[in-house]
Amino acid sequence: MTDVATMEKIVSLCKRRGLIFPASEIYGGIANTYDYGHYGVLLKNNVVAQWWKAMIQERDDIVALDSAIVQHPRTWEASGHLAGFTDPLVQCLGKCKQRFREDHLREAAIERGEDPEALRCPVCGGELSEPRQFNLMFETHVGPAADSASTVYLRPETAQGIFLDYKTTLQYSRKRPPFGIAQVGKSFRNEITPGNFIFRTLEFEQMEMEFFVPPAEAQQWHEHWLEQRMEWYAGLGIDREKLRLRPHGADELSHYSSATSDIEYLYPIGWSELEGIANRGDFDLRQHQEHSGEKLEYVDQQTKERYLPHVIEPAAGLGRTVLALLCDAYDEDEQGGEQRTVLRLHPKVAPIKVAVLPLLRKDGHPELAREVYEELRRRMSAEYDSGGHIGKRYRRQDEIGTPFAVTIDHQSVEDHTVTLRQRDSLQQDRIAIADLAGELEERIR
Ligand code: GAP
Repeated sequence: MTDVATMEKIVSLCKRRGLIFPASEIYGGIANTYDYGHYGVLLKNNVVAQWWKAMIQERDDIVALDSAIVQHPRTWEASGHLAGFTDPLVQCLGKCKQRFREDHLREAAIERGEDPEALRCPVCGGELSEPRQFNLMFETHVGPAADSASTVYLRPETAQGIFLDYKTTLQYSRKRPPFGIAQVGKSFRNEITPGNFIFRTLEFEQMEMEFFVPPAEAQQWHEHWLEQRMEWYAGLGIDREKLRLRPHGADELSHYSSATSDIEYLYPIGWSELEGIANRGDFDLRQHQEHSGEKLEYVDQQTKERYLPHVIEPAAGLGRTVLALLCDAYDEDEQGGEQRTVLRLHPKVAPIKVAVLPLLRKDGHPELAREVYEELRRRMSAEYDSGGHIGKRYRRQDEIGTPFAVTIDHQSVEDHTVTLRQRDSLQQDRIAIADLAGELEERIR
């Protein structure tokens, strides 16, 4: 089904329908940065709500957190990001002077069967500089003086805020390991590689959960979370055939991780990371304990055992989930000799669940349609649209993934029934207005 989805078509649909578009466009845009419009925001909100549902509502061993983006600068010393969160950067010494990730150029050379030791600029063929380690954290300053004493960083992951608040959370929440702390928020990375639309951006939202466990249980919980997270994506309606788990090789593990597996999705750009699920051991709590001098050990009141919990971390990207949903849902078919573009989104993530469309702008259709709409929107995300030919209005809703459309016509005015059209099958059922909301809620579930 998704064979027809290319990145160009997804980008174009997102722009046309106002889901996602380049930021700062009137100034020519800014690299790897996008804005989300109305339907993009609704889609994102639905994904986040599903994540919170799986983390909080359906469990009783995880609590929520919203920590600051700018933390004490020593956080990043302790976490290893100041020293180790770097990419190897090379610059073209020839004509174009562009910068590239050396590791990416090497991988591409190996794939083409070329010598990775003899890299040249992929744009102009020029010679390349020696690689230089380039830190991905954005630096800024607190207060009026821009000196080293005032330097702070925009967080490159939400996880560290969770580690800093681990002790406070443990105390007030009356939890004991195994338990987790979940957070959703923006992270920032000074990415220099072209981003493939929203796949790699300078600022992005993460949905991260740190699960603190007794050391002996780490392996078992790692497996638990690998399974849970795969199921979560499948539950959003993503094709299981396009999801896979890929364990990291020893050479690609992050500085904090003893084992990581990525959940990958088969994007139009190939299999790529959707979420990383790492066993961080006690690396972070140990580092923060040493750097802050604050004891972070857990003391089991019953056994009197003391230990630093180990951490299993499912770390998902909201933008990458949205992109996977869009790629997976994108389809084209033919209706009455005309080509139709349709987003076959699962109703639970679709930005709009139902569109209410009066057939005509007269004969009482708009008044009754408005009544139906007012009733429906109290219970679900609905849209009223009276503008233009009915076929065009259906096409518009198909393109933003609205699973149901309700049409009010002559018969509706007479007998208080409507047609309920399904986006995917195009089946149309006649249904009483009194039963409509309940029927829709049932179908959305
Ligand atoms: N706390 C662990 C951590 O941050 P990561 O693999 O670097 O791990 C987790 O990031 C997820 O965040 C990735 O799987 C991806 O979905 C998302 N992500 C990371 N960098 C991103 C970027 N530049 N643009 C969009 N999403 C990104």
